[in-house]
Amino acid sequence: MKKLLTIGLGLLLSTQLFAADFDLKATMKQMKQTFKQAAQAQTIEEMQQPIIDLNQLVEQAKQGDYPPEKKDIYLEGFNKLTVALEKIETDLQAGQFEAAKESLKQIDGLREEYHDKRNPSIWQRLFG
Ligand code: HEM
Repeated sequence: MKKLLTIGLGLLLSTQLFAADFDLKATMKQMKQTFKQAAQAQTIEEMQQPIIDLNQLVEQAKQGDYPPEKKDIYLEGFNKLTVALEKIETDLQAGQFEAAKESLKQIDGLREEYHDKRNPSIWQRLFG
């Protein structure tokens, strides 16, 4: 019995360690911060660094280990973020600040869309 308990505890600890390997929540918090910096930027130069940072955070998020039933939808969202971020980088390099700001709204739209998908409503759960 004691042995079983030890094995059980060991398994519990190792799965916890596995889960702690990558902290999506912390990455998301950083994404929020860098997004805010990008949104508040007044010039192309000010927007460039937060966009680079955001890109890196999204790349990190792609590397996370997710439950199989969530993985596809998360990666779909992260890949769309990458496309939008690349568009912003191109806009900035081309001196198109207004276009970059418009594309930044897409990032916010994706955030809403994929966070909604993460929390399906009770109706979606029952009938979706
Ligand atoms: C489009 C793809 C995205 C996906 C698939 C996604 C997924 C998630 C998931 C699964 C969580 C829950 C994490 C946890 O509590 O363990 C989360 C939380 C969060 N996400 Fe996202 N997210 C996306 C985009 C974004 C973007 C673009 C932003 C901000 C610019 C953002 C900001 C946040 C914040 C602030 C939280 C809450 C963190 C906390 O609990 O304090 N997310 N997201």
